[in-house]
Amino acid sequence: MSIRALKGFKDILPDEVGIWQRVEATARDIFHRFGFAEIKVPILEKTELFARSIGEATDIVEKEMYTFTDRNGESVTMRPEGTAAVLRAFIEHSLHAKLPVQKLYTVGPMFRHERPQKGRLRQFHQLSCEVLGSDLPRLDAEVIAMAWLLINELGITVSLEINSLGCPACRPLFKETLVKFLDERAGSLCEDCERRRHTNPLRVLDCKSAHCQEQYVDAPSILDHLCSGCRDHFGTVKESLAQLAIPFKINSFMVRGLDYYNRTTFELITDALGAQSAVGAGGRYDGLVEQLGGPSLPGIGFAMGMERLVLLLQQQEGQDNGPASDLFIAALGEEAQRIAFPILHGLRTNGLQAGMDIEGRSLKSQMKQAGRANAAYTLILGEEEMTKNIAILRDMSTRAQEEIPLPENLAEWCRGLAAKIKSNQC
Ligand code: HAM
Repeated sequence: MSIRALKGFKDILPDEVGIWQRVEATARDIFHRFGFAEIKVPILEKTELFARSIGEATDIVEKEMYTFTDRNGESVTMRPEGTAAVLRAFIEHSLHAKLPVQKLYTVGPMFRHERPQKGRLRQFHQLSCEVLGSDLPRLDAEVIAMAWLLINELGITVSLEINSLGCPACRPLFKETLVKFLDERAGSLCEDCERRRHTNPLRVLDCKSAHCQEQYVDAPSILDHLCSGCRDHFGTVKESLAQLAIPFKINSFMVRGLDYYNRTTFELITDALGAQSAVGAGGRYDGLVEQLGGPSLPGIGFAMGMERLVLLLQQQEGQDNGPASDLFIAALGEEAQRIAFPILHGLRTNGLQAGMDIEGRSLKSQMKQAGRANAAYTLILGEEEMTKNIAILRDMSTRAQEEIPLPENLAEWCRGLAAKIKSNQC
């Protein structure tokens, strides 16, 4: 029996890779425009890093991490998200000494042992961005604007929801009021909410159960409990987003699944992926750098789920046909194959994306391969052409054909043909 991939772990096949590359290239381009530099961090970290940052009482740390003891007896974890690892590197290498504000992004796989479904995997990929060193609300709007621009340049439609989770000065009071409200409803909530009522009360607010949501209609709102500093901060975030004409909805029930957030949080939401509605999400995490043993520096960031971006693009555009090629050589018979072999290499050397069937199958089969390769031109070296010492260059879109003499000076011939094909395609 053949071995299959693990549940929730997915191969990205050649006909999907084009969209993946487009998503990543668009993101990198935008991140650079906003002054972000790439950082690459390890996939495996000490378990303590995630327990201390994401929070012991979160679903991720409680039940979703790929944690194991390595051969030295140390507890290690495959990163479930990028923020903690980027901050660990930021502190370890004293990156704050370089610039007043550091803007960093990382791209790569994350691991969470969740129940797999459409858009939810156990190995998934994030485009993850962090800005460290400023707590100014205009920066929150700038970060949100960058995420918004990426979505727009990809041609995807989502809605933006924002909230403020307050700060250590005002949140405890809100928590108390919320716990009182939840205690009055004890026994009538779902199992998860009953548990979270004690362990992580804010999380009950984004419970997916319709029954619980009905009960939370009159729940106290964090936005009514913000201290004046947080209220002003959130006010400027909203005003700055309005200045950039970025539409948003306020969702006071958005609490996020990671404990490190305070003040601004946001999510980019779609209804096109069933239960998996968040395409990207993030927020401010002032205090986290210090909590991880670094200097007292505020921070904000977000991450986009690449699988979800790719799924949305595939739904919109259909499957990719793979990269188009410039030229396919159809060579029939041993002598034609012998002549075609250095031509193929010469054309590739001169920058063409060229291919041929080295098995030398029938002309019909080779023309089919040229179609599948999405080739702009085919160079045909059939038996008749060989006797006439020529090749036929066929434009695959217009079907126009022209005869060209076989090379005397191979290097020059390949250079000329490559230049002609490139200029015709411009
Ligand atoms: P998160 O909300 O856990 O935040 O994940 C961010 C995004 O990653 C989600 O909106 C979703 O698109 C994608 N995602 C999460 N889990 C899965 C999964 N199992 N399968 C597919 N996609 C998934 C964070 O991870 C924070 N580190 C974001 C952040 C950065 N906050 C500040 N800086």
